[in-house]
Amino acid sequence: MPDVKKPLLEVKSLTTSFRTDRGVVRPVDDVSFTIEYGQILGIVGESGSGKSMTSQSILRLVGNRKSEKVAGEVLFEGQNLLELKEKQMQKIRGKEISLIAQDPMTSLNPVYSVGNQIAEVPFIHEKSSKKNSWEKAVAMIKRVGIPSAEVRATQYPHEFSGGMRQRGVIAMALAGNPKLLIADEPTTALDVTIQAQILELIRDLRDETGAGIMLITHDLGVVAELCDQVAVMYAGKIVEKAPVEDLFSEPKHPYTKGLLASLPKLGDKARLTPIPGQPPNLHHLSTGCAFADRCPFVMDVCKVVHPNLQEDGPEHEVACYLYGEEERHANES
Ligand SMILES: Nc1ncnc2c1ncn2[C@@H]1O[C@H](COP(=O)(O)OP(=O)(O)O)[C@@H](O)[C@H]1O
Ligand SMILES: [Mg+2]
Repeated sequence: MPDVKKPLLEVKSLTTSFRTDRGVVRPVDDVSFTIEYGQILGIVGESGSGKSMTSQSILRLVGNRKSEKVAGEVLFEGQNLLELKEKQMQKIRGKEISLIAQDPMTSLNPVYSVGNQIAEVPFIHEKSSKKNSWEKAVAMIKRVGIPSAEVRATQYPHEFSGGMRQRGVIAMALAGNPKLLIADEPTTALDVTIQAQILELIRDLRDETGAGIMLITHDLGVVAELCDQVAVMYAGKIVEKAPVEDLFSEPKHPYTKGLLASLPKLGDKARLTPIPGQPPNLHHLSTGCAFADRCPFVMDVCKVVHPNLQEDGPEHEVACYLYGEEERHANES
């Protein structure tokens, strides 16, 4: 039974650093958020902002080499995953927490049939019989919309198209009925119909099992449709966090405003208007706000000290000197 008093996932000051020959970089820098049972948290941000690295840090898929360090706390039902032995982590991965990785090939083993790989989940984690596990795998393959599931189950990853492989990975991730699903751009490679079907499956998982979901996407339409809360990442930091309606109706951070402005309006054929300027280079970050160079509202203080993430309205947090306490500080100085 889940410990209902504790949040499903509580990430506190998660910081992932890499030692490179050009110095230390922090793709994830002091990231904190909570996912409750049944909640879908969207994580958005440009490519390179640290979204995948955040999910890999939670699952301890980074931090195992000498040059990599993951600090902070990842409390899963109150238990800090960063303190677990790899053996204990293996029991959690794929069962309690499933990952739909951005690149489906990294999750599929080329030497086993897709059906066998999916069947392994109930076989190992639920101690289902071989026959039952296989039947569950076939049913799962059907559920993700792969036709001729019985035949497909016997095939190997290389016999699947890219989109089908991605659906195979999704079937594997859902097969364990995870308490927490981390979906890293799960539908990017898929066409629109299949995309809608997969998002529906993710929503079903939440509705039927009360799982919590961390959904990484650059598709704000998906966020609007599926998520309860949204966190916006920029250069490894969360710069804004809010309930989904609030983020869309009242974006606060200039970067979030830029992201939303780049959305084409309904019926508008205009192309996306990208935010002017370049995404930051992690090797050359100042001590100030990483968005300062591109920010139309930049003030002197922004270039010197990074603003803290703080509340500005109920459940709405923003890291920007234009808001809250720090607004006054900035105006005083
Ligand atoms: N092994 C590594 N060493 C140093 N930097 C890395 C390494 N892997 C990823 N990065 C950097 O981490 C940053 C965040 O990457 P990632 O989490 O994949 O971004 P996103 O998923 O938001 O596109 C990127 O700037 C990337 O260059
Ligand atoms: Mg990524």
